[in-house]
Amino acid sequence: MQKHYIVQISDTHLFGDKNRKINGSNSYQNLKNVLNQVISLEVKPDLIVVSGDLSQDCTFESYQHLANLLNKCGIKYYFFPGNHDDVDIINKVFDLNWKKDQVDYSFNINDWFVSVIDTSVYPEVLGELSIEQLKNLKNNLEQNKNKPTVIFMHHHPLLLNSAWLDRYILKDAEKFINLIKLNPQVKAVLFGHIHQVFEKNVDGTFYGSAPASCYQVLPKTEMFTIEKLNAGYRLIELDGDKFNSKVVWVE
Ligand SMILES: [Fe+2]
Ligand SMILES: [Fe+2]
Repeated sequence: MQKHYIVQISDTHLFGDKNRKINGSNSYQNLKNVLNQVISLEVKPDLIVVSGDLSQDCTFESYQHLANLLNKCGIKYYFFPGNHDDVDIINKVFDLNWKKDQVDYSFNINDWFVSVIDTSVYPEVLGELSIEQLKNLKNNLEQNKNKPTVIFMHHHPLLLNSAWLDRYILKDAEKFINLIKLNPQVKAVLFGHIHQVFEKNVDGTFYGSAPASCYQVLPKTEMFTIEKLNAGYRLIELDGDKFNSKVVWVE
């Protein structure tokens, strides 16, 4: 059976000004480097998913930079907002009609079902899923019960043992986790937001983050601490009904 590949890029935190740095990293240049590596992969990925915190300053230009860089790759892409994003501006740049905090959508990649859920609650930093969002997710999962499934979201649904970051976890995450437990076809829940690598298996489902494409932070710390690491992304392989993934760091 043919394998399929998804590249998960996260937390691009772009500015309107291409030269501006965030915590020592030039987010524009970093994303450019990440995408250059992605397009030179031996096997061309089927698609790219950018999992939120697309912009840092929410300017029209910052989202235009994202569009320009992604369009140049020649790879199909999806993205969705994180806590730093402004959906009104995203709508203008990408000619979309998204509603704040409700950017939930799904698509298929061959036999796989991919569900994107919007955990952002503008302008809060933490994440939340409304009762309606959870109900819709439940229905979608039920309707696609026979398909291996991947879920993408921005916020982390599991505690990281990092006091400052765990304040900004997905609120009432156990409701979400319990729903996933009832749906063993969900092979992976993938997120961003935490600017570090996290991987854990919960009852047969892989929970994992993509590192940021801008700066990384040190795991398991009381306070925000920058970690001197390069930009990275998660490379996902869908092999039959098996999910594999690894983190790739960029020079
Ligand atoms: Fe972020
Ligand atoms: Fe975030």
